[in-house]
Amino acid sequence: MKVQNREMRPPRSSRAAGDAHVAGSAVLSVAGLSKTYADGHRALDHVDLDMRRGEIFALLGPNGAGKTTLISIVCGLVRPGSGSVRVAGFDIRSDYRETRSRIGLVPQELHTDMFETVLHTVRFSRGLFGCAPDEAYLEQLLRDLSLWDKRNNAIMTLSGGMKRRVLIAKALSHEPELLFLDEPTAGVDVELRREMWALVRRLRERGVSVLLTTHYIEEAEEMADRIGVIHQGRLVLVDDKASLMRKLGRKQLTLHLDRSLDAVPRALEHWGLHLSGGGAVLEYHFDASDESACVPQLLRELARTGVEFTDLNTRQSSLEEIFIRLLEADR
Ligand SMILES: Nc1ncnc2c1ncn2[C@@H]1O[C@H](COP(=O)(O)OP(=O)(O)OP(=O)(O)O)[C@@H](O)[C@H]1O
Ligand SMILES: [Mg+2]
Repeated sequence: MKVQNREMRPPRSSRAAGDAHVAGSAVLSVAGLSKTYADGHRALDHVDLDMRRGEIFALLGPNGAGKTTLISIVCGLVRPGSGSVRVAGFDIRSDYRETRSRIGLVPQELHTDMFETVLHTVRFSRGLFGCAPDEAYLEQLLRDLSLWDKRNNAIMTLSGGMKRRVLIAKALSHEPELLFLDEPTAGVDVELRREMWALVRRLRERGVSVLLTTHYIEEAEEMADRIGVIHQGRLVLVDDKASLMRKLGRKQLTLHLDRSLDAVPRALEHWGLHLSGGGAVLEYHFDASDESACVPQLLRELARTGVEFTDLNTRQSSLEEIFIRLLEADR
């Protein structure tokens, strides 16, 4: 997929005159949303979520957490239980057509008409939303997704990664302002994953808001402005990525000692240090927010105790470690 640095026009709806939305208002507003399926399973439990215009929001959660259910409700594929959902200020129930035309969905499951050609499928999809034909836009879209050469091929003749890109082209065929990507890179190779990330960033540059679900923490870390963690139908946390990493992040200080120790000296016991590497390495785990206070103090106490080191380094805990700790705390 070529991701060129070409000027892209803003989404169709934000160019429309007399639009109901106001710049800067929430593109998606979910309030008190709950959903219980017919078998009694409560898939969503009082979910509140506002998405800002032009942001990339990553929804993280284990299998069965409710991610697809949430997306499906916003897109009108699953009936909401209680609560309200608005897209660009329009209610998904009373203004269904208005909200649906503003949304693009790349579903988790790959299913599309395998016998149709790429171009026909994408053109048809645009028509379904009542958009005027625009062959130039479709050509640009397919070129952006490196599908132009395959435009006359039947979809069944494409590789898995190409089929996924066709789904993205379909989702963007009507120039939506809010794009849902439900696990866009599951089963996709590393190169295509990186290309998809670049595509998402470019969409954001032209004002499209993106909500993506993912199991790949690296993807959220790489892409998202904000991250939401959903667990057993409850949105347990929503925060800016940077502040999430700062607030919940842990750090590890590793000291390579000059001389091996048999045990942590008694005078240092209150630090909760961990001795490893046959006594040659001392590790200290601490909250990232405490760094400036505690690390200099520890180093002073080490010097007083006569523990010398040849090297030291610190490591920030990854989003993955944060995520696992959060879910454990929510059990
Ligand atoms: N049509 C349905 N009828 C009954 N239960 C359902 C239905 N669809 C989903 N569920 C249940 O609702 C819960 C949430 O499912 P959902 O597909 O939203 O999870 P998810 O977070 O998208 O998971 P994954 O990461 O595996 O895609 C699961 O327990 C699932 O079994
Ligand atoms: Mg899902």
